[in-house]
Amino acid sequence: MNEQFEIIEDRDDIPSNPTNNPRVADLINARLTRRGFFKGLMATSAVAGAGIVTTGMARAQDASTLTFKSIPQKIAKSHTVADGYDANILIRHGDKVVADAPAYVPGAVDAAAQVKQFGYNNDFIGYLPLPAGSNNSDHGLLCINHEYTNAELMWPSLKDPMGASKEQAQHEIAAHGHSVLEIKKTDGKWQVVDGSQYARRISALETEMVITGPAAGHDRLKTSTDQTGTRVIGTLNNCAGGKTPWGTILIAEENFNGYFGGDIAKTNEERNYKRLGIEPDSWYSWVNHFDRFNVEKEPNEPNKFGWMVELDPYDPSSTPKKRTALGRFKHEGATVFLNKDNSVVAYSGDDQRFDYLYKFIASKKYNPNDRAANMDILEDGTLHVAKFNDDGTVNWMPIIHGEGPLTAENGFDSRADVLIETRRAADLLGATKMDRPEDVEPNPVNGKVYVMLTNNSKRKEPNIANPRVKNIHGHVLELTPPGGMGKDADHTASTFEWDIFLLGGNPANTDDKSVYHPGAESWVSCPDNLAIDHKGRLWIATDGAPKSDIPDGMHATDVEGAGRALTKFFFACPEGAEMCGPEFTPDGKTLFVAVQHPADGSTYDAPSTRWPDFADGVPPRPSVLAITKQDGGEIAG
Ligand code: FEO
Ligand code: CA
Ligand code: CA
Ligand code: CA
Repeated sequence: MNEQFEIIEDRDDIPSNPTNNPRVADLINARLTRRGFFKGLMATSAVAGAGIVTTGMARAQDASTLTFKSIPQKIAKSHTVADGYDANILIRHGDKVVADAPAYVPGAVDAAAQVKQFGYNNDFIGYLPLPAGSNNSDHGLLCINHEYTNAELMWPSLKDPMGASKEQAQHEIAAHGHSVLEIKKTDGKWQVVDGSQYARRISALETEMVITGPAAGHDRLKTSTDQTGTRVIGTLNNCAGGKTPWGTILIAEENFNGYFGGDIAKTNEERNYKRLGIEPDSWYSWVNHFDRFNVEKEPNEPNKFGWMVELDPYDPSSTPKKRTALGRFKHEGATVFLNKDNSVVAYSGDDQRFDYLYKFIASKKYNPNDRAANMDILEDGTLHVAKFNDDGTVNWMPIIHGEGPLTAENGFDSRADVLIETRRAADLLGATKMDRPEDVEPNPVNGKVYVMLTNNSKRKEPNIANPRVKNIHGHVLELTPPGGMGKDADHTASTFEWDIFLLGGNPANTDDKSVYHPGAESWVSCPDNLAIDHKGRLWIATDGAPKSDIPDGMHATDVEGAGRALTKFFFACPEGAEMCGPEFTPDGKTLFVAVQHPADGSTYDAPSTRWPDFADGVPPRPSVLAITKQDGGEIAG
């Protein structure tokens, strides 16, 4: 979700962590001077013997393996991609998804049409080849989240989304969720397959889901429309996500709190809802029109959100499942590493200032020869939360009911209670408060894990892994499991090592205390989404850079060798937009990106850009683009 404007920033992310977990400010300098921090950077003579914090922008292009030339970091009405590449619109908000979807009509209020059309604010993108299990890079399914809506950009004369009518609210609910598209590359150009049997819209309006795993059926999940505590209509605020080795998609429920309103003191869930930021005033008008969003009328409904949802996109009739074993918080996403012993490990960030980094280890192992046997792997396992130590290690602390403080004495009567209130359980375990963990991804090439920490302007006390106060530009951590590189890395281990990979900010501004390779060609503000190409290089998408007068977009960097932390800028979003969903095809020749909330901060009547149509009367539309190299080669060689 965008944080370009302070009012949204505050609403989106009021810190709700009341605990006083580790503060180790005095050890930070020791950590920053560790030799490991400059591992890789030392390979260039420019930094050898130089100071700790690099503020120069010395040229060192030869150090990078990325073959494109950086583009300027300049805000503009349209998008820009590096020379030699094409960025073509694949699908826009309102375009047809299912076979009988009507054509998009600008400004129409029509939930029945929207529920068949491409939703709003595209975020996570997952590419799954067709046929299933193949490596086909020219034909596949594209699975895309729709995180939230900007009512003020969807309809005329509506400055405040809270003023949306019941019909508009229904349309917004239909515009949330997920889309599954079948796509095909013909003569070098990607197109959506019209009338595909796989095409599907998942929405918060009508898609029935089941709640599975250890919390399913608990009294705290029962509502007036579901006495079983196992059913729910839809999914909300679907931010990032992930893919599993068995060909399913993981859809994260992030800022679900904002859809609910009413007095939480009138429920039995006050402590739980307070920790998740549910407030009397909702962010949307829905609470005025539908009882399910009013906690005074439907007090347990919020407990049905904040989970990870698993979807089998190869089966268009499949019922999505909310996997409670992965915990309940503001899930940014969940990304899976398959250990060489076939253990399944999923990483997840809780995107809020001062919240935590999690790792889930499934109880059951992956069976490469039996897809059906894998379909319920995420049903059971152990969730862990990260505690960063000053000696360069990070402990993964298991969150287990009945162990340590997670007992009835502290209000945890069952395993379900621990999962429903994951944040409070992690508080009691003493997890490290982070600067808003967004995408967290294991790198299959070097076996390490990269953690995007987007920013935390409210930080007053640094800690070892979040070393800057008022961290407005964010940073990237690198975690190293034991066992070796790549597939040898043991992601089930309870202790990893960690390093700071880069500290965002403008190297020309010494106050930023940024750290990159001295030859960095771009500077990063607010790292959010991440993709890793098949050479193991990071593609970092940003959300929030415009407050520094640079556009959001896509940076890329090597992680190993002379180009480590040498960032280059590949794609710039149009004005007001953030960059989401980077996803490569297996051959590395296509990079899909999602441009979310173009023209954010303006209105339908006077949009700051009409990207991508640039036609009178047509509002800006969130869209997915396919980026290919004009010579047909791999992205960035
Ligand atoms: Fe929806 Fe954490 O960005
Ligand atoms: Ca974000
Ligand atoms: Ca995000
Ligand atoms: Ca990602």
